[in-house]
Amino acid sequence: MTDKLWGGRFTSGVDAALHQFQASLPFDVRMWREDLTASIAHARMLGSTGILTAEDAAALIAGLEGLCAAWAPNGPAVDAQEDIHSLVESALRALLGPTAGKLHTARSRNDQVCTDFRLYLRRGCDDLDAALQTAQRAFITCAEAHPDVVMPGFTHLQHAQPVLTAHHLLAYVWMLARDRERVADARRRINRLPLGAAALAGTKFPLDRQMVADELGFEAVLENSLDAVADRDFAVEFLAACSLVMTHLSRFCEELILWASQEFGWVDLPEGYCTGSSIMPQKKNPDGAELIRGKAGRVYGHLLGLLTVLKGLPLAYNKDLQEDKEATFDALDTTLACLEITAGMVRGLKFRPARTLGALAHDMSAATEIADYLASKGMPFRDAHHVSGEIVRYAEGRGVGLDGLTLDELRRYSDLIDADLPALLTPQAVVNAKTSPGGTAPARVREQLAKAKAVVG
Ligand code: ARG
Repeated sequence: MTDKLWGGRFTSGVDAALHQFQASLPFDVRMWREDLTASIAHARMLGSTGILTAEDAAALIAGLEGLCAAWAPNGPAVDAQEDIHSLVESALRALLGPTAGKLHTARSRNDQVCTDFRLYLRRGCDDLDAALQTAQRAFITCAEAHPDVVMPGFTHLQHAQPVLTAHHLLAYVWMLARDRERVADARRRINRLPLGAAALAGTKFPLDRQMVADELGFEAVLENSLDAVADRDFAVEFLAACSLVMTHLSRFCEELILWASQEFGWVDLPEGYCTGSSIMPQKKNPDGAELIRGKAGRVYGHLLGLLTVLKGLPLAYNKDLQEDKEATFDALDTTLACLEITAGMVRGLKFRPARTLGALAHDMSAATEIADYLASKGMPFRDAHHVSGEIVRYAEGRGVGLDGLTLDELRRYSDLIDADLPALLTPQAVVNAKTSPGGTAPARVREQLAKAKAVVG
C-alpha cells in the first residue's frame, strides 16, 4: 500500500514523473477555502443524518475549521500531495488521527472537485460582475467628461456619419451590461450542487443533499449523479462569458490604438498606461491596449481548449477533466486584469475635440443628410439618395468636401434645395438631427447616459 488516498490496491509507488505530471495541487490549491467549506457542510450533514456519530462529525468540523484558521488568508503551502483534496485530508489526519478518514464517507473526489470548482467560479462571477461594473463606470465618467465632442462614426472604417464621442463610449457600457447579464446567467447554472453524486452512481448512505445545498448556498441539487460529476458545461459557459467580455475590450482597445496613432491623433492616452521605446525617444506606445487585444486570443483559446477536452469523453469522470481548472482560472485572472486596466485607461482618457472635429472637415459624411433633406420634401428616398450621390461625385471632382459647395452648386441638382440646407450639413447639425430613440443627438445621449447610470448602479 502507498500513502496515496487510493493506495490500497497498489504495491509499488507511482512513477515520480507521473506523479508530477498528474498532480493538480500547484493549481487547485487556490480552491483550498472551497474545499474546506464544502467538507464542513458534508461533515455536518453526515452528523445530522446519523451516517457519522455526532462526536465524529463535530471533531471533523472543528478540525476543518482549525485548518481554515491556520491557512488564512493565503492558503496552505504546496507540498508533494496530489491535489487539494489529498492535502486537506492529510492535514486533517495530522490533527485528528484516524477519525479524519471518516470525512470521505459517501463522497468521492469526483463530486468533491466539481463542488469546489463551482463554489470557486461562483465567487469568480461575483468578482467579474464587480470588475465589469467598475469598467462601465469609467466609460460613463469619460462620456460625461466629453459631452459635446463630435467625431466621425465609421462603417467599413470609412467616414459614415458624425456621432458624439459620448455616444460612442456609451456603446461599450451596454456591451458590458450584457456581459454582466451573461455572467449572472452562467452563475445560475454554476450554482447547483454535485456533491452526493459520489464517484458516479450515488451512494448507499442516506444523504441529505438539500441540507448541503442550503448550507453552501446552492440554488439546486443536480438531479443525475453521472451528469453531476461528468459535465463541465458550466465552466464552458463561464469561459464563453469571459470570451465575450474580452471581445468587447479588444474592440475598444483596437479603437484606442488607432485613435492614439499620429494619423488620427484623437486621444491622449494616459501616460501610466503607455510605455516608451529603448531606441526611439519619441515613442509613447499603447502597450496596455495592445496587450488586452492580444489576451483576448488567450481567453478564446481556453474556451476552445475546454470544449475540445469535453467532446470525446465517455461518461462519467475522466482525468481529462482536470484540464478544466488551469484554463478557467487563467481566463478569470486574465479577464479581471484586463477589465481593471481598461477602467484605468478610460478614466485617464482625453479626447482632442479639434482633431476629431477636424477629421470631419471637408469630408462627405453629411451626404445622408442631403438625401434625408430631399426625402423629407417628398422625393422618394431612392431618388434622393441618387441626387446626393451625384453631389458627392461633383464635390469629389472639384476636390472639396460637401462643406465646400455653394448653395448655387447644390441647387443645380434639385430645385427642392433651399438656402437652409448648408447649415444643416455641419457635423454638429448632423449630430443634432439624429433624434430617433437611441440616436446620437445630444438630448438623446443625455437620456441614454441617465439610463446607463441607472442600469449600472
Ligand atoms: N484533481 C482532480 C481533478 O481536478 C480531482 C478528481 C480526481 N478524481 C479521480 N478519480 N482521480 O479532476
